[in-house]
Amino acid sequence: MPNSQFSSDFLPQHIAVIMDGNGRWAKKQGKPRLYGHRMAVKSVRETISTASRLGIKAITLFAFSSENWKRPEEEVNLLMDLFITVLTREVKKLHKNNLKLRIIGDKTRFGQVLQQKIAAAEELTKENTGTVINIAANYGGKWDITEAVKKVAAQVADGELTPEQIGENTISQHLSMADLPDVDLMIRTSGECRISNFMLWQMAYAELYFTELFWPEFNEQALLDAITWFINRERRFGCTSEQLQSLMKQK
Ligand code: IPE
Ligand code: IPE
Ligand code: MG
Repeated sequence: MPNSQFSSDFLPQHIAVIMDGNGRWAKKQGKPRLYGHRMAVKSVRETISTASRLGIKAITLFAFSSENWKRPEEEVNLLMDLFITVLTREVKKLHKNNLKLRIIGDKTRFGQVLQQKIAAAEELTKENTGTVINIAANYGGKWDITEAVKKVAAQVADGELTPEQIGENTISQHLSMADLPDVDLMIRTSGECRISNFMLWQMAYAELYFTELFWPEFNEQALLDAITWFINRERRFGCTSEQLQSLMKQK
């Protein structure tokens, strides 16, 4: 049910979140990093339920980057176990709430059990019509573009396409989430101001919002604050402010 505090005309259609700061948050309270990852699940739940209540079309949450394999083996293993536990525990609830769950990223590097859980969760929720929840896992923006380019190259090699026919759409239709609008609002927690190889193409015109909150501290109010900030931005897409104002008058 859309929330009356925002007009749906001004809401971001697609929100992307870099959920950062679990480790530092845990350290601050003298706890191991894994404690931060566990407590992060509550913020994920609250973010999803708020986005769904507002009627946001899609939300993409960065859970594990292609670069995160570089972390200590113990932390990577614990993150994979947590991923399996959360998927198992939460998927029915997501389905009951009409949410469509998708995992984006190179899934081939995951263990068999995790790959099966992912496939089952995607299958169960694929017909749902509510908010699309994308979990980016073993995802990298450069990987995404590289995979798309490989597909286009194969079409050229097969003689289906000439290099001159390649346009932006030729690439974007092969990217993850090609069926969704580009990202309108990107949120990163923990005070870091970088993209860390997230959706490079899909975020080309996103408004970037950085908050000092660590991810386990992120909650409904924090998301509403980010959306309120977004609504007050003027998105010019290359035009001038005056052009936009005269366009608004014509509407
Ligand atoms: C984000 O929190 C979660 C993952 C990258 C899996 P971090 O684990 O990066 O936490 P910090 O940045 O070290 O505090
Ligand atoms: C980015 O966080 C990836 C996720 C939130 C999953 P990192 O903590 O891995 O990013 P860097 O390495 O500090 O840029
Ligand atoms: Mg981090």
